[in-house]
Amino acid sequence: MAEAIKLSIDGRSISVAAGTTVAAAIAIAAAAVTRRSVSGQLRAPLCGMGVCQECRVTINGRAHVLSCQALCQPGMDVITGAAA
Ligand code: FES
Repeated sequence: MAEAIKLSIDGRSISVAAGTTVAAAIAIAAAAVTRRSVSGQLRAPLCGMGVCQECRVTINGRAHVLSCQALCQPGMDVITGAAA
């Protein structure tokens, strides 16, 4: 079994298998929404391969990180635009 990694998504603790992308962890956490458009519409990952830019989140204080291209790391703090 893969190593379990604990991280935080919008302040909620979650545990995922090593090798899980942040976008997948957000889906597992049932958050689904990653950001809001400039007009306030909720947005979610679409392509899963770094093209659409819809999966941008803030990770450890760094904004606009593509969650579909980032692997979960222990202690990672992920902030989505869901609560904005
Ligand atoms: S889901 Fe399209 S860039 Fe991440």
